[in-house]
Amino acid sequence: MFGIINSSAKNILVLGIFQRELKKKGREYLSGRLIDIGCGTKPYYDLLKPYVTEHVGVDHEATFHDKSNIDLFGTAYEIPVDNEAFDAAICTAVLEHLEEPELALRECCRVLKSGGITIYSVPFIWHLHEEPRDFYRYSKYGLRYLFEKTGFDVLEIIPLSGFWVTFGQLLVYNIYRFHRGPLRFIPVIPIIGLVVQGVSYILDRLDKSTQWTWMYMIVARKR
Ligand SMILES: C[S@@+](CC[C@H](N)C(=O)[O-])C[C@H]1O[C@@H](n2cnc3c(N)ncnc32)[C@H](O)[C@@H]1O
Repeated sequence: MFGIINSSAKNILVLGIFQRELKKKGREYLSGRLIDIGCGTKPYYDLLKPYVTEHVGVDHEATFHDKSNIDLFGTAYEIPVDNEAFDAAICTAVLEHLEEPELALRECCRVLKSGGITIYSVPFIWHLHEEPRDFYRYSKYGLRYLFEKTGFDVLEIIPLSGFWVTFGQLLVYNIYRFHRGPLRFIPVIPIIGLVVQGVSYILDRLDKSTQWTWMYMIVARKR
């Protein structure tokens, strides 16, 4: 009975915000052959399907994620495809896991056609995850610098939230630490989590202080 409100509800707000923005930018910018760098389970395949002709996922052998949707094994530094093989690229929640971000951006540039578009998402305020392969957090200034240095023109850097959504999400993750043992059979924590996310969303709409964003989305074009 309580299974309806399960732990996937704990980040439903940030997932919703992220997917809405990715769909919007996908519709606006993506077309042709798409490479998904560090694809994991390729979770945005359905979302982007209307805009691209092919969606090829690349990830490394040692990934923590289920490998069944990976099309090519390789790293963000060495993607096993020819130069200029793709019209577009996405790389979502991966750059913070790369010890050499500049090399990875140059590799993305290599596999894109001239004028090709890439969409990245990168956290700014977020907890450590996929440890120990969690190396950096980026500001919008650092991102612009890196993309411009590696052969891209930055078209947009979009902060996906203000303070309240970031704060609400961190609070929810922390209260979920108590959702274990016998307590996990009672949906009190998930219900509090959903209420916190709802209130955060409303407050964020009233007061969007983007210095506190949890995540940036970057749209860039290969020069
Ligand atoms: C947080 S997950 C994001 C997965 C997926 N892009 C998404 O948005 O759900 C980070 C991904 O980066 C991948 N990754 C980490 N280091 C990598 C590397 N050097 N080369 C390629 N992929 C890498 C991981 O295997 C994992 O799939």
